Amino acid sequence: MKALVCAQFGALDNLRLQSVPAPTPGPGQVVIQVNAASLNFPDVLMCQGKYQVKPPLPFTPGAEAAGVVCAVGAGVTHWQPGDAVMASTGYGALAEQCVVDATRLARVPAEMSFAQASAMVVTYGTALYALRHCANVQAGETVLVLGAAGGVGSAALQVARQMGARVIAAVSSDAKAALCRRQGADAVLVYTEPEQLKSQVSALAGESGVQVVFDPVGGDYALPAFRALVWGGRYLVVGFAAGAIPAFPLNFALLQARSVLGVYWGEVIRRDPAAYQAVLRQLCDWVVAGQIAPVISAEIGLEQAVEGLKALQARQVTGKLVVRLTDTGWPAR
Ligand SMILES: NC(=O)c1ccc[n+]([C@@H]2O[C@H](COP(=O)([O-])OP(=O)(O)OC[C@H]3O[C@@H](n4cnc5c(N)ncnc54)[C@H](OP(=O)(O)O)[C@@H]3O)[C@@H](O)[C@H]2O)c1
Repeated sequence: MKALVCAQFGALDNLRLQSVPAPTPGPGQVVIQVNAASLNFPDVLMCQGKYQVKPPLPFTPGAEAAGVVCAVGAGVTHWQPGDAVMASTGYGALAEQCVVDATRLARVPAEMSFAQASAMVVTYGTALYALRHCANVQAGETVLVLGAAGGVGSAALQVARQMGARVIAAVSSDAKAALCRRQGADAVLVYTEPEQLKSQVSALAGESGVQVVFDPVGGDYALPAFRALVWGGRYLVVGFAAGAIPAFPLNFALLQARSVLGVYWGEVIRRDPAAYQAVLRQLCDWVVAGQIAPVISAEIGLEQAVEGLKALQARQVTGKLVVRLTDTGWPAR
């Protein structure tokens, strides 16, 4: 089968499209024939050897996939060949087939496309878990989303709106701002200098202020965003796409009773499978009801996956890039 292979950590140009043996399922595992896999910033970091998870080399990147079960291992009773599924794979999804633990599978409703399903597990899962389980966002609260046109950011924008929150979307360009408006952001700002962020946010937030910050960017905007939080505000540490890991003087937490909440969705999937399943069920219900819809900016082939990863690295992607792999034949979607 065809797979994208990373044989050494470093530049994305090291990745190769290769023919490799198809996987076989071990006990408790399932093999998925992948119809769609979507790209995420952690794929870039993983190939560079900069991610917290370092797979044994060589490995195939790709953290989420949707397709059809084609083989099940010993002890798997809940799934059978032909089931339409989506999964958080960690890595391995950028291949015609990938093997995952059966606990990582969720059913794809008939009303959803595989492309939509593949674009939901990581980004929308992270967003809903962060906003509901970590920050307990309430209707009427104001959520500031940094990098709001990116993968996790656009998911957080939609999910926070769906939860009844007011969303201020912060982005780096007018084009990204326009996308956030189309996605229903209540207010949008284009970052200028980091020192300006707090006053930009305050002007848009009004008297009630910002209760929650969702930050997948880190870097120089993190502290001003933290300082924009009102009394009792919650700061969700989601990622560091800007590269630098911010450090806060803790007096800014003490003086306004603010909380810093770490979000690590990939680890939740491993430690709390019930929460993982509940989050995906909720997201599917919302998609089927037409209340949220993954922002898919382009569908590409496996041959273009390296270019797609480079575009993510260069901050050029909005929403999600979906890689189409095989025609699973069932169902046609
Ligand atoms: N905690 C978790 O469980 C979890 C799960 C998934 C992802 N993440 C993390 O979340 C972050 C975003 O992931 P993603 O897949 O949403 O990425 P993405 O689609 O590339 O979005 C990242 C956004 O960050 C902003 N950004 C600022 N400086 C950047 C830079 N130097 N390079 C690239 N982007 C920059 C960009 O928005 P502007 O141009 O508007 O600033 C971009 O849209 C990553 O750090 C990832 O590891 C965490």
